Amino acid sequence: MSRVGRDGDGLGRTGSVTLVGGGPGREDLLTLAAVRALRYADVVLYDRLAPHGRLDELAPGALLIDVGKRPGHHAIPQAEIEALLVEHALEGSRVVRLKGGDPYVLGRGGEEVLACHKAGVPVEVIPGVTSAISVPGAAGIPLTHRGVSHMFTVVSGHQPLTASELEHLAGLGGTIVVLMGVNTLPSLTAGLARAGMAGRMPVAIVERGFSSEQRTTIGELADIVTTAGRARVGSPAVVVIGEVVRLAHDGDASAAELMERAVGFAAVAG
Ligand SMILES: C[S@@+](CC[C@H](N)C(=O)[O-])C[C@H]1O[C@@H](n2cnc3c(N)ncnc32)[C@H](O)[C@@H]1O
Repeated sequence: MSRVGRDGDGLGRTGSVTLVGGGPGREDLLTLAAVRALRYADVVLYDRLAPHGRLDELAPGALLIDVGKRPGHHAIPQAEIEALLVEHALEGSRVVRLKGGDPYVLGRGGEEVLACHKAGVPVEVIPGVTSAISVPGAAGIPLTHRGVSHMFTVVSGHQPLTASELEHLAGLGGTIVVLMGVNTLPSLTAGLARAGMAGRMPVAIVERGFSSEQRTTIGELADIVTTAGRARVGSPAVVVIGEVVRLAHDGDASAAELMERAVGFAAVAG
């Protein structure tokens, strides 16, 4: 399909911004709407965790800007990303902001939409498959399961949670999903234990979901920090806390086998 000219697309000459949820990193988990938006993009600003391996084919002829890393390996600051979106749109470009997962789940999508509104730039949001649900699923962990858990809460582990937040979480009794939680795992698990969660509560950490390097590490609230440390667990990873972890089935391995593996690994490494 040929690209539609800017003047003939009904958007006028102002250009536009489309926030696109890119899913958890695998290209076939892009939505059809995402693929369409990419095909007609003039400029694509993409994140580290968005599927970007074949952007030159998915967005033929578009200017591709990696905002996840700059030459010195630092991410481009949020304010600069917003300025770039607005600047290119005001020049008349159809700008796609390709983000990991869903733009509105711990993805700063709301801030980018507000920046566009403020600048008078037309903006739309295409939802994506969030890692919060899909990455546990890739490790065979359902976030809800009849008779086991009928709710889940998604939290950011970017900053440690407050004592009151931890108490609420521990008291809910449902599944807890933590994004960006590898570094704050010690304070999270200690805080949940202080708030009354059982030390035997199962915890899974699913790293690099949907890649060939996907790995699931399973332990219990009381020992997961030690187990994860010995297994050198790193980001990106989704942490799942709750009884549903017992249902995990990653590849050929069941939750029990995954836990044995982690314990065996810890014994060798220790
Ligand atoms: C800034 S948050 C963005 C979340 C995104 N908006 C979403 O809906 O998935 C980034 C975090 O998402 C999680 N994440 C995203 N993709 C992942 C993947 N493929 N495997 C494991 N974790 C992933 C990690 O916790 C990572 O630190």
